[in-house]
Amino acid sequence: MASNSLNVPSFPSTNSQQRISTADTTVRVKVSLKPGRSLMDWIRLGRSGQDLTGVGGQILEVSEEELAKHNTQEDGWLSLRGKVYNVTPYMEYHPGGIDELKRGLGKDATQLFDEIHKWVNAESMLEKCLVGKLVTTSVSQRKGNNTYSWFKQIYSSYLICLNSLFKMKNNKLKPQFDWYQTNKTITLVVYTKWGDMSSEYVIISKEDKELTVNVNIKDLTFIIHTELEDGVSCDYSIKTSKDGKVEIVLPKIQLDKQWSGLGKSLDKHCTYKKTTELAVQYHECKLESVCNITHDVKLFCLRLPESTWMCVPIGYHIHVHHIISGMEIVRSYTCVSPSLTNVDNTEGKGRLIYLMIKIYPDGAITPWLNSLNIGDTVDISNYDGHFNSQRLDNDHQLVLYAAGTGFTPMVRLIHRSLQENSKIKSVKLLFFNKKLEDIVWKDQLDQLATNSKNRFEVKYILSEADDSWTGLKGRIRKELVSDHLPKTVDSNTKLLVCACGPIPFTKEVMR
Ligand SMILES: Cc1cc2nc3c(=O)[nH]c(=O)nc-3n(C[C@H](O)[C@H](O)[C@H](O)COP(=O)(O)OP(=O)(O)OC[C@H]3O[C@@H](n4cnc5c(N)ncnc54)[C@H](O)[C@@H]3O)c2cc1C
Ligand code: HEM
Repeated sequence: MASNSLNVPSFPSTNSQQRISTADTTVRVKVSLKPGRSLMDWIRLGRSGQDLTGVGGQILEVSEEELAKHNTQEDGWLSLRGKVYNVTPYMEYHPGGIDELKRGLGKDATQLFDEIHKWVNAESMLEKCLVGKLVTTSVSQRKGNNTYSWFKQIYSSYLICLNSLFKMKNNKLKPQFDWYQTNKTITLVVYTKWGDMSSEYVIISKEDKELTVNVNIKDLTFIIHTELEDGVSCDYSIKTSKDGKVEIVLPKIQLDKQWSGLGKSLDKHCTYKKTTELAVQYHECKLESVCNITHDVKLFCLRLPESTWMCVPIGYHIHVHHIISGMEIVRSYTCVSPSLTNVDNTEGKGRLIYLMIKIYPDGAITPWLNSLNIGDTVDISNYDGHFNSQRLDNDHQLVLYAAGTGFTPMVRLIHRSLQENSKIKSVKLLFFNKKLEDIVWKDQLDQLATNSKNRFEVKYILSEADDSWTGLKGRIRKELVSDHLPKTVDSNTKLLVCACGPIPFTKEVMR
């Protein structure tokens, strides 16, 4: 087997948190925090009345020079969106680890912060750590003062140059936008020239006549934002073609009425931006149903607002936010399909979101999700993620290693790979759990294996099995990984290995 035929995507994280990611994308990991350093502990510390600012709670005006002095783990400040925070007490609570947080110390860390997790509401989480306002000195104010300011001026011009070059390049690639009408419909046309374009990369939302469409092209987003001239109904349809053309068809409410124009352009209309630079947009969803999957895992079905269309791509996740003690808490969840065996996956497409969630009685967000009643609302963000599902269009043998709820990104991978027209030759799942009763959808997995004409195989491995269990036992180990990789792979077939579970688990698989 050639070395490049083995691709090992991983979903590393602590506490079985999932992130689908391939070997060619950046893998970001959460670290194991010390006991007593959970999010709930941070919320409790904030409520304790302790001074977390380190400056007696007075709001200061902080210069860049002053900020730069506080750049150590023991005395660390950083600035986000013009505000300066003392993050020294937060160090051990940071899910990304102390070393990562230290990268932002002593400076304006807004860009770095947004590149990694713009959905995190730091303003709310660090409210009790607020030191003051960042007071910046402009380049012109410093003109001629010293070598530093001279260097900074040259450097700024260089950056401006680079920036315009980037914009020029970007504009060249910028999708073209057009629209046309018939008696019954308005059609928006975006020419992306991206061959992999599909309706999953389009998100539509509307409030009265204000229409927002995000067309996601890899890590960039083309935005249509307009106050429509007249009303359209929410029965949108989206067509895409191989040359990257996207057509969004909006049914007119007043049939036969000719529009004189599309409407009024609103903020950011026809702009093409890095997706990470856009504000996180939430949709108020209604809880439609909840099913028990195991004793602590539930399947939540959420209905997007009638005016929103969003079909989450395979392996992507959404964010759920909730306010606890005045602090905005955000958690990520991978979107799954409602079942593994149900053949109709078009039902509710773009309108329903399914989440398979393990409830932690002492967790921050899951006890609240568990307490919701049918009809209650949950805010769900636009999706996020990187998984390139086009890789599933190749002749691959797929081997999946999942631990606990690390199974969630596998659900749609399995579903899609076993479709009749799929090029995936076979799928093998190694599913690690503590006990038999922890295995999610065991009956469906078994049924799939029986009916799949040898295209799907599942092996369960239990770490806390009782004596009646005759299957595989133990935790992830080298032999288990290697024993279950196909012995022979023909030259036209590639092996695609995916793993999702806690960090030690994914590391062992990758080894
Ligand atoms: C990209 C991504 C996708 C995800 N997809 C899913 C999914 O599909 N399904 C799913 O169920 N989850 C998923 N997760 C995990 C999810 O985001 C939450 O982390 C999870 O639901 C727990 O949230 P919580 O706020 O209820 O619990 P938390 O407050 O985070 O606590 C979870 C558990 O860990 C323990 N704990 C927390 N901190 C510590 C500590 N410092 N020391 C010891 N123990 C600690 C708590 O006591 C609790 O038992 C995903 C995560 C990511 C990043
Ligand atoms: C500016 C420097 C910072 C860097 C380089 C950094 C880096 C990281 C990294 C690498 C992760 C893991 C990400 C992942 O798995 O997706 C993470 C997670 C996280 N960070 Fe930071 N971080 C920074 C600042 C902060 C600050 C100031 C806060 C304060 C609120 C914060 C709050 C969080 C939270 C809540 C998570 C978990 C996100 C999730 O569950 O999706 N970070 N950070």
